[in-house]
Amino acid sequence: MTAFRPRIYVALDFADPQAAQSLVAQLDPRECGVKVGKELFTRTGAEWVRALVGQGFSVFLDLKFHDIPHTVAQACQAAADLGVRIVNVHASGGRAMLAAARRAVPVAPDAPALIAVTVLTSMDQAALAEVGIARPLPEHVAALAQLAADEGLDGVVCSAWEAARMRSVFAQTDPWIVTPGIRPEGSAVDDQARIMTPREALLAGASELVIGRPITRADDPAAAVRAILSSIPT
Ligand code: C5P
Repeated sequence: MTAFRPRIYVALDFADPQAAQSLVAQLDPRECGVKVGKELFTRTGAEWVRALVGQGFSVFLDLKFHDIPHTVAQACQAAADLGVRIVNVHASGGRAMLAAARRAVPVAPDAPALIAVTVLTSMDQAALAEVGIARPLPEHVAALAQLAADEGLDGVVCSAWEAARMRSVFAQTDPWIVTPGIRPEGSAVDDQARIMTPREALLAGASELVIGRPITRADDPAAAVRAILSSIPT
């Protein structure tokens, strides 16, 4: 695994593996990583991810594992075996599940960062109530992040607006505060609600930026990556 820690992960939100492949062919693994989620992974499979790693890309395997501890541990191990850079799990899977994931992917220079998802941004207070969670949403997010930090996870996926607070929860040096909802100056907001520019997000405490459409829909995706890189602190 390369020592280079890219600041940008391009979200490969494509239904068509060939479209994903042609976008990847325009990107430089020395400039950005890529995020592979459930849709693309289910279409392409592990060997495609292994090939991305083989091309030198840092891969965020965004499969949000949530299952019994043994199953999640085995899945995290399988992700580590692919050579991906970031793997994530739902903190709501509970303490034993988080601990099992951590044991499966111990902290090591060549192991993936193991990060937590707290509450999906598609959930609001009413949706939480329907699954039996009465406490205020921000309190629930904070409690889940603390649980993940207590079990030694490396960081969290969160909005850049929560990055500073998450930095104080994940007190280790250099936590992985991975933030979607990023929009470079002047680009379309799409369906994102609370956005920040790449520069604002990093200054607010983000360590990695997940950026999809502003790059994948650009006429020149490589130029879009470079423009973002030139806008952020080094
Ligand atoms: O195209 P865009 O930059 O909005 O893509 C953002 C990526 O981050 C998508 O893959 C989306 O699913 C993901 N994401 C998000 N908000 C979250 C968690 C993940 O936008 N809270």
